[in-house]
Amino acid sequence: MSGEDPLRSVLLIGGAGFLGLHLIQQFYHHKPNTKIHVFDIRPLPEKLSKYFTFDREQVEFHQGDLTKEEDILKAIERSKCDVIIHSASPIHGMGQAIYEKVNVVGTKTLIKVAKQAQVKALVYTSSAGVIFNGQDVMNGNETWPYPEVHMDGYNETKAIAETAVMESNSSDFKTVCLRPAGIFGPGDRQLVPGLRAAAKLGQSKFQVGDNNNLFDWTYVGNVADSHILAADKILDAKTSSEVEGQTFFITNDCPTYFWTLARTVWKADGHIVDRNIVLSRPVALVAGYLSQFFSNLLNKEAGLTPFRVRVTCAYRYHDITRAKEILGYEPAVDLETGIKHTLDWIYETHED
Ligand SMILES: *[C@@H]1O[C@H](CO)[C@@H](O)[C@H](O)[C@H]1NC(C)=O
Ligand SMILES: *[C@@H]1O[C@H](CO)[C@@H](O)[C@H](O)[C@H]1NC(C)=O
Ligand SMILES: *[C@@H]1O[C@H](CO)[C@@H](O)[C@H](O)[C@H]1NC(C)=O
Repeated sequence: MSGEDPLRSVLLIGGAGFLGLHLIQQFYHHKPNTKIHVFDIRPLPEKLSKYFTFDREQVEFHQGDLTKEEDILKAIERSKCDVIIHSASPIHGMGQAIYEKVNVVGTKTLIKVAKQAQVKALVYTSSAGVIFNGQDVMNGNETWPYPEVHMDGYNETKAIAETAVMESNSSDFKTVCLRPAGIFGPGDRQLVPGLRAAAKLGQSKFQVGDNNNLFDWTYVGNVADSHILAADKILDAKTSSEVEGQTFFITNDCPTYFWTLARTVWKADGHIVDRNIVLSRPVALVAGYLSQFFSNLLNKEAGLTPFRVRVTCAYRYHDITRAKEILGYEPAVDLETGIKHTLDWIYETHED
């Protein structure tokens, strides 16, 4: 036995982002022999929350644009990486052009350059949303096909990128896609901040749908762990055949009613509502259409839209047996602790 870790160097694409910083954190503490390289368009944040305890001197940063071949090539050559982890993705609510550019063009450019530069493997952060089209997903697993029509441009472009990653899998360039559902945690700029903004607007008393629909949420540190496992397994000749060319759902393995997480956040913020106003799905849909219609008329952003109603009323939970059995994944941080960390981080950084 040589004892040497085959994962000597990793290149984290999008490593300055929300998940990216947690990838650095987990690699730093759990893979001390792996040199960490970060490629991102923006630098690492000046100030890091107490949730990040890595030594930034140990992280080598490469600034560049994912859609520029020469930028990627330079980072690959300098890092001499064994594996690339690609978790760069624009946040939700951006325009279609940005999704196309980063998710589709960026991912395809990365694949092309990485293959030419003979990188051994690629781990891609996809999304559980690639199989979602507004219909219920109950215990969804990896055999589920992509829907013909996606709900939105974000998930549609993620599915296109995922397909490109899968199709590029070969013996010289092994690829795997991870599909986390509902990522949240310290550094989150979407889910929890969005809930707090809704509460400020007095929307926390409304419940859309009957709250019987189960939802998957995933603590960001657990998502990072799954990436380390996938990178290790795909490089290891003993395990790679089970991982290469495959997709894996990643969740906290703890489906929760949609409004439960929202209310936990609101409660921690002191927004306690004694009586919820429940809008049933059909009523909410009509309200959503009306709200969208009048908002368009007034050139304003609608608070309630048919899209949001469908998203909040659908069941969306997944079966992660394969991730557990093949990757050896277990969510180390449970939902309650994850929410605690998130609220704690919000208070620490005074974000509101
Ligand atoms: C994409 O899919 C996810 C998971 O199903 C969902 O939460 C999200 O609202 C969808 N749309 C966007 C813009 O992310
Ligand atoms: C995957 O999902 C399909 C459709 O729900 C189901 O028929 C099948 O048994 C599931 N596979 C496993 C291994 O659970
Ligand atoms: C991925 O590539 C490897 C090596 O060529 C191959 O053995 C494996 O079957 C491929 N995976 C899929 C799902 O095609």
